Amino acid sequence: MGTGGYEHVDRDRAGQAEAFDAIGDRYDEAFPHKEGQLAAGGWLTASLPAGSRVLDLGCGTGLPTARDLSAAGLQVTCVDLSAHMLELAGRNVPQARFLRADVADLAADGPLPHGGFAAVAAFFTLLMLPRPEIPLALRTVRDLLEPGGLLALGMVEADVDDAPIPFLGHTIRVSGYLRDELRHVVVDAGFEVIKEESYTYAPASTDVPPEEQLFLYCRRA
Ligand SMILES: C[S@@+](CC[C@H](N)C(=O)[O-])C[C@H]1O[C@@H](n2cnc3c(N)ncnc32)[C@H](O)[C@@H]1O
Repeated sequence: MGTGGYEHVDRDRAGQAEAFDAIGDRYDEAFPHKEGQLAAGGWLTASLPAGSRVLDLGCGTGLPTARDLSAAGLQVTCVDLSAHMLELAGRNVPQARFLRADVADLAADGPLPHGGFAAVAAFFTLLMLPRPEIPLALRTVRDLLEPGGLLALGMVEADVDDAPIPFLGHTIRVSGYLRDELRHVVVDAGFEVIKEESYTYAPASTDVPPEEQLFLYCRRA
């Protein structure tokens, strides 16, 4: 099929990268506590031999995930749509590799080798996509993984599709699922869910409401 199913969706990114370009410097300040993300990243480092290739998809500033994966001896590739986020990640994790790309561009014949990664971390990245694209992105992640490869997925629990929300003085559009539906979507995309964790998260910034964060520890089925 070649285009990974994207021929059927209207890929609208208006404002998304621009918002993160503008927010970048304040992002880590606004989201200081990342227990769930640290635990899920720790699962990857504990599970993989040093030297394994790991993709941090929607890496943001690279903190803490790309930094910790890299410090554990893994070969980290950071991908993000926002040039400024990648620039910050480059400063925070200079030993990683960097690619400015949209997750949709990583489908078949994209710039990264399919089957080339032992693991993918995707923390709060796929929620930036409209719902019809989330299963496509998960399929792409599955294809990027080697057989048995691991996915650490972070999402916010919410029954919304492409909903505009205020975010650090900007408007971004987000999507999500309630947890049972999220599990179905992930399984349908070709993963086994090994473990699920949820955390109630209150960001430091007052214009971002508290949220329920879901972390799925998955393996390519
Ligand atoms: C909420 S932030 C999360 C950053 C980081 N993973 C973390 O947990 O701190 C979402 C990131 O995904 C990036 N992003 C948004 N849409 C994307 C897309 N279509 N493809 C790749 N990256 C995207 C944004 O630029 C931003 O850096």
